[in-house]
Amino acid sequence: MQIFGVDIGGSGIKGAPVDLDKGDLAQERHKVLTPHPATPGGVADGVKQVVDHFGWTGPVGVTFPGVVTDGATIRTAANVDKSWIDTDARALLGERLGGLPVTVVNDADAAGVAEMHFGAGRGRTGTVILLTLGTGIGSAVFADGVLVPNTELGHLELDGHDAEKRASSKAREDHDLSWEHWAAHRLRKYLAHVEMLFSPELFIIGGGVSRKSHKFLPHIEGIQAEIVPAQLQNNAGIVGAAMRAAGH
Ligand code: BGC
Repeated sequence: MQIFGVDIGGSGIKGAPVDLDKGDLAQERHKVLTPHPATPGGVADGVKQVVDHFGWTGPVGVTFPGVVTDGATIRTAANVDKSWIDTDARALLGERLGGLPVTVVNDADAAGVAEMHFGAGRGRTGTVILLTLGTGIGSAVFADGVLVPNTELGHLELDGHDAEKRASSKAREDHDLSWEHWAAHRLRKYLAHVEMLFSPELFIIGGGVSRKSHKFLPHIEGIQAEIVPAQLQNNAGIVGAAMRAAGH
């Protein structure tokens, strides 16, 4: 079965039909740039361009980089335009897509669902935490394979700051930190804090940096949990969005 998945990110809106049996894209994905400011109307136009590129007419799953309740309502918008807050994104996008059924899900939750089914978390029980390190930090917490949605562990307080401002991939770039320094100090401290609160068996590190895990994972010491890179890399959000739209 195929469902369309769209991933709304800080720089791009990417999507493709997803083969749900394989957990992979059924066609090469299409990307348009995220408008700035990333307002609901502008982003909805971008989602429409991506979906129309494939002439898709079935159900669509869409990720959003903030808290999303009931597959529809946006509650927070840390790194996108604040006018998203309280928007019924399911209604907005459904209308813009000419009435197609739309499900909206937090981006990290989507990536986590995909990784638990088809990637680094497959078959894993106990507490598993996926963290996406990008512009912000997203989290997906699983207890015996069941997602606890909208956990927002990127906004824990670390050294008196919002954790994502210290330990995200953007923070590494903004503060011009080496991979080693970022991993050994910022990321290690953040993971130690999350570990203190949740004692997970496994951390899965997702987001763009998962491709470069050899540059930073070896520098993270003193964490009890196993730490592995995500396997679906940049497609996890698209695949997970489609899975959620299919009722996973
Ligand atoms: C948002 C999360 C999101 C994460 C990654 C955070 O700033 O609050 O909802 O999952 O960024 O995009």
